[in-house]
Amino acid sequence: PKPTRSKIEGLQPLREQRVRVFGWVHRLRQQKEMTFIVLRDGTGFLQCILAGRCAQTYDALILTTESTVELVGTVQPVPEGKTAPGGHELIVDFWRTLGAAPGGDDAFNNRFNEQSDASVLADLRHLTIRGETAAAVLHVRAAVLNAFRTTFVKHSLTEVTPPCMVQTQVEGGSTLFEFDYYGQKAYLTQSSQLYLETCLPSLGDVFCIQESFRAEKSLTRRHLSEYTHLEAELCFITFDDLMTHIENIICETIDVLLSDPRMAELVQMLNPGFKPPKRPFLRMDYRDAIKYLNDHGIQRPDEVTGEIGDHVIGDDIAEAAERQMTDQLNVPIFLNKFPKEIKAFYMKPIPGDPKYTESVDLLMPGVGEIVGGSMRIADMQELLKAYKREGIDPEPYYWFTDQRKYGTCEHGGYGLGVERFLAWLTKRWTVRECSLYPRWMGRATP
Ligand code: 4AD
Ligand code: MG
Repeated sequence: PKPTRSKIEGLQPLREQRVRVFGWVHRLRQQKEMTFIVLRDGTGFLQCILAGRCAQTYDALILTTESTVELVGTVQPVPEGKTAPGGHELIVDFWRTLGAAPGGDDAFNNRFNEQSDASVLADLRHLTIRGETAAAVLHVRAAVLNAFRTTFVKHSLTEVTPPCMVQTQVEGGSTLFEFDYYGQKAYLTQSSQLYLETCLPSLGDVFCIQESFRAEKSLTRRHLSEYTHLEAELCFITFDDLMTHIENIICETIDVLLSDPRMAELVQMLNPGFKPPKRPFLRMDYRDAIKYLNDHGIQRPDEVTGEIGDHVIGDDIAEAAERQMTDQLNVPIFLNKFPKEIKAFYMKPIPGDPKYTESVDLLMPGVGEIVGGSMRIADMQELLKAYKREGIDPEPYYWFTDQRKYGTCEHGGYGLGVERFLAWLTKRWTVRECSLYPRWMGRATP
C-alpha cells in the first residue's frame, strides 16, 4: 500500500503502518551494518533505523547531520528496555537524501558549540535555533501567545493591531527610534497603549500583541531594542481591579499552557521543578519597597558620584536592586504606587495622595519587572496639565485627548514584555534567548 505521509507528532496512530516522513538529520550514528538517525521535523524527533540494503548505499555512507531526507518505513513500538522519543521508531525500507549538508570543516557541528563566543552564536542564530533548547523555547513562546489570546478572549477582550509607525511618544523621548516618514519625523512605537485607549469606546476592553521598540543605550540581560509587547486596556475599573485582572490573566494563561502535555513537558525540561505562582500576588507599596531595600542592605550607586548609598524616596529602583529584592522574596510582587516624577505623563495620581500614582510593576524572581501598568488620567483638563508639566506639545496628541473629550471613563491597562515573561517561565539567563532574532544595541543581524 502507498505509505501515509505524516509529521512526526502524528505518528502514534500509524503504528505498524507504512509511512513517509520528511525532516532533518538531527543526530547520526553509523555502524557497520546499520545507520541510526534521529530525525527532526519541527513537530518532534523520531528514531529511524536503516539496516541491510538501506545502510549499504553510498548516500548512507556520506550522510551528514542537518541533511534533509525523505524516509519510508514502518512505525514500530521500541523494543522493551529501550527508549525513544514518542516510544516508537521507524524501520526504514526506502530513503533518499534531498539536501546534503556539508561534512568536514564546514560541517554543522563544527560551526559552533557551547563554548563559542557570544557574538559568534549571535551571528549564527539562524543555525543555533535548530538546537533542542532554542527550539523548545520557541515552541513554548508560540503556545504562550496562543494561551494569552485564549485567556483574553475568555475575559471578553478584543484583539486589535495598532500601527508600529507613529508620531507620538509614550514612554519618554530618550528611547525613541526616529525615522524619516515622507519628509516628516516619525518613530517606531514604544507602546500601543495610547491607541488601545482610543479603542475602549468602540470595542470595550482590548488587547494587542505587537512589537515595541526602545533605543536602549545599555546592554543588560533583559533589554531588547525590539520586543513583543502584550498590552491590554480595560474600562470602568479601579486600580485594585487592574491588579486582580493582571494576576488572573497570568495564572489562567499558565493553566491553559500547561494543560497541553507537550508544553508541560517542555516547560519542565527548560525549567525543572517549575510551579505556577499562587494567587493573590504580594502587593507592595513603592515606599515600603524603599524601606525593604534599606533594611536589607540592598544599596544603590549615586547617579552623579557613583557612590554606594541608601535608597531614598523618589529613586527609580535600579534593575539590580529590584532583582535582588525579588529574588530574596522569591514570589511575584506587585510593586505599586510609584512617585509621579519617575513615571509617564498619562498615569493617574492617587486621589488624596497626588505625589504618587496608581501605577504597578509586576516583578518576577530571576527577571524583575515583566509588567508595567497603571490607571490613566481620565479627566481632559488634568491631561492637558500633564502635557504641560512634561513639556509635551499637545497638538500631535489631539486624538488621545479626544478620548477624554467624548465620554471619558475611568480606565487602566498594562504592558507585558513577552520575552521577559518567557525568560521567567523557562528560566533563561537573558531575554535574548526568548526572541526569534533578538535586537539589542549594535545588533540587527541576522
Ligand atoms: O514599563 P513599560 O515601559 O510600560 C509601557 O510601555 C506602558 N505603556 C505599557 C502599558 O501600560 N500598556 O513597558 C512594559 C513592559 C515592561 O514591564 C517590560 O516587561 C517590557 O515591557 N519592556 C521591555 N522588554 C524588553 N526590552 C525592553 N527594552 C523593554 N522595555 C520594556
Ligand atoms: Mg516599566
